[in-house]
Amino acid sequence: MGLINIHAKPDVYLRSFNNILWSIAGSWLLKGWKQIGKENVDTVDDTMLSEILRIQAEGFEYGRQGEILKYSKKFRKIFYVIKSQDRIIGYCIYYLRPDFSVTGLEKRSVIYSIAIDREFRNRGFGRKLLEESIKEMKMNSVSAICLYVNINNLPAIKLYEKIGFSIIKEIKDICGQKERCYKMELKLA
Ligand SMILES: CC(C)(COP(=O)(O)OP(=O)(O)OC[C@H]1O[C@@H](n2cnc3c(N)ncnc32)[C@H](O)[C@@H]1OP(=O)(O)O)[C@@H](O)C(=O)NCCC(=O)NCCS
Repeated sequence: MGLINIHAKPDVYLRSFNNILWSIAGSWLLKGWKQIGKENVDTVDDTMLSEILRIQAEGFEYGRQGEILKYSKKFRKIFYVIKSQDRIIGYCIYYLRPDFSVTGLEKRSVIYSIAIDREFRNRGFGRKLLEESIKEMKMNSVSAICLYVNINNLPAIKLYEKIGFSIIKEIKDICGQKERCYKMELKLA
């Protein structure tokens, strides 16, 4: 019975194994990460998590509580929060990926999630959060940043385009079942 189960789901095991390898590689790339002074932008600490989870739940259809807690531990240095008068009003979570190109090993980053408190949207905070965190990415020799965004999420697409991201391709099933999204990229080097 056990054997049948194992053979029935080889892709699931392979995917989990892959995720573990990527996660180890990401943590390794984060070693020696240099932090710079950022205006109104900080990195996460445990006291901020309940507010971040609230902003995430307000911004997205699907809760990601477990994943967000995981990122706050594994990728704390690149889990940024933005404040206004000491109040947390948004977050942007990145992770790192190695990329092997003709020039050798490159460090790339991916935006896992970004959201601004509904009350504070459209006032430039999303842009500020991205600009400040991107400065730090450049300082740490990240060669490119990519993200996935639902093709109907116009506020987010406009924000990314303002920052300099371009659409690379359209993909299905990444932003939700049967949903279409764009992969967008910003080259830094
Ligand atoms: C996407 C999001 C993070 C943008 O944050 P924000 O703080 O409102 O964005 P900003 O005020 O910094 O806007 C920067 C630019 O984005 C564009 N933009 C932002 N909101 C917009 C809207 N509702 N409609 C059209 N363009 C918009 C504008 O071009 C704006 O530049 P401008 O002020 O010079 O015109 C925010 O809407 C949000 O949290 N949404 C819910 C979660 C989400 O969708 N996250 C992205 C998942 S990929």
